[in-house]
Amino acid sequence: MDSAGHSRASSHHHGDGFVGVIYGDIGTTSFRFSVVEPVERNEFVQVEHETCGTVLGRVDEVERKTDLSLDRAQVLGDGEPVDIEERVSAQVSVIGYRDDRGLLQVPRTPFRAGGAVSKGETATIQEVIGLTEDKKHGAYVGLLAGHDVPVYLDINAMVQKHVSIVAKTGGGKSYIAGVLIEELMKHHVTCVILDPHGEYASLREKGKHAEGAARFHVDPRGYGDAIQVFSPDTKINTGCRPLKFTLSNLDARDILSLTGSARVRIHLTALRKALDLLRQAAKDYTIRDIIRVLEREDDPQNASLVDELEYLSEVEIFAKEGTRIDELVLKGKTTIINLKGVPPDIQELVVNRLTTAMFELRKVGRIPPMMLVVEESHNFCPQVGQVASSKIFRTLASEGRKFGLGLVVITQRAAKVDKNVLSQCNTQIILKVTNPNDLKAIIASVEGLTTAMAEEISRLPIGVAIMTGGGLQMPLMVEVRPRETRHGGESVKVIED
Ligand SMILES: Nc1ncnc2c1ncn2[C@@H]1O[C@H](COP(=O)(O)OP(=O)(O)OP(=O)(O)O)[C@@H](O)[C@H]1O
Ligand SMILES: [Mg+2]
Repeated sequence: MDSAGHSRASSHHHGDGFVGVIYGDIGTTSFRFSVVEPVERNEFVQVEHETCGTVLGRVDEVERKTDLSLDRAQVLGDGEPVDIEERVSAQVSVIGYRDDRGLLQVPRTPFRAGGAVSKGETATIQEVIGLTEDKKHGAYVGLLAGHDVPVYLDINAMVQKHVSIVAKTGGGKSYIAGVLIEELMKHHVTCVILDPHGEYASLREKGKHAEGAARFHVDPRGYGDAIQVFSPDTKINTGCRPLKFTLSNLDARDILSLTGSARVRIHLTALRKALDLLRQAAKDYTIRDIIRVLEREDDPQNASLVDELEYLSEVEIFAKEGTRIDELVLKGKTTIINLKGVPPDIQELVVNRLTTAMFELRKVGRIPPMMLVVEESHNFCPQVGQVASSKIFRTLASEGRKFGLGLVVITQRAAKVDKNVLSQCNTQIILKVTNPNDLKAIIASVEGLTTAMAEEISRLPIGVAIMTGGGLQMPLMVEVRPRETRHGGESVKVIED
């Protein structure tokens, strides 16, 4: 460079992966380059910096600049030939480089005009982004979008600091939850899945692969040996083991909250009295027994309470012997609680009782550290209103990490999940979301999300997720790996192909 600031760039022979040349006004955090070989938005590129060495960047936008004016486009529309000059330019934001101490740094002086831009090499990407292939502690979730670089999420970080999975309906939440659970099973992590639609039992079955899945290096397999399935309703969900609770553990208020009765006050005394009577006579009793006692009282006020209890007795969720939690949660195994066909109020009860019991037993070490997967979590820990399980989820979200009980919170309505729960999820998996309120809730809860990436959320194709946390040093776009097992949540067609 001479004193006037002129410099001479020459066309050198470019190495493999050369995609273009830096031009125009150049910053330290972003620059443009003229595109010589095709590049795509979100792709990683690398540039040599005179003092910093190899620096990694990401393509934020690719633009085709043309000299076709509105006037001449009109002429073209009239069928007359017009010469058009086109040039492609790309905008890059700088991610940085690793210094001698391995710290991520961003150059403090701009790149040189005329500098060559190349496709990001696997080794550079892995080093700068800090991606390691830690098969022992990591869950393999997919490949960095546009590159063949595997992405692993740290399993300890996920259990200790919780995970959220958000997407609009049909966005691929259950699919990627299945991917995560496969990885947990592979690493013998104890897991319980609250499954309102009965779609997770297919984790037992081997899946089959679409063409083009080879680059993910995933072999189909089933996990039948690692999975047990329970359900409160074994008539609908045949083949499941029955899930039962002992009535004797519930007090009058619990039972009334189950009936959904609006008249808790009026009935509380009567029910308490009935329970006292029964408890004096026997250790175990049934809803039928309670009804019998109430009917003996011959109090007309009891009639509606009896009706509510009749409903409960039909659900058949109570038994003399309840399912033991330490039978339900087995070290290194995955337990699915199939809630398909179970009325919402009963689902809330089941979820509340199970979750509370698991938390209590985990505190005293009677069950192993574990992951609790909560599908449709807006129903079990809603932002607005109270359901039976609201409280326990808040407690788990804030205290679960101390006891090794991690949550995977899945929802299609991020805005409708208790913020106290969602904000505690340190690993975030975001798929396509379009609802503006949900987008706001997500962007508010993700640290380090660039504006370009935030805008990308509503445009994500099926199968691509933005992931943050989980040991990742920055939010990344990831092509979700194919499932090893069959996905049980396939969309249903009204008209067959
Ligand atoms: N990574 C992926 N690769 C291939 N197919 C996928 C992927 N993710 C999702 N799909 C397909 O998209 C459809 C919807 O996925 P999924 O059932 O996971 O959606 P969802 O977000 O759980 O929806 P819902 O809110 O309705 O439960 C399924 O048919 C699934 O096979
Ligand atoms: Mg789903």
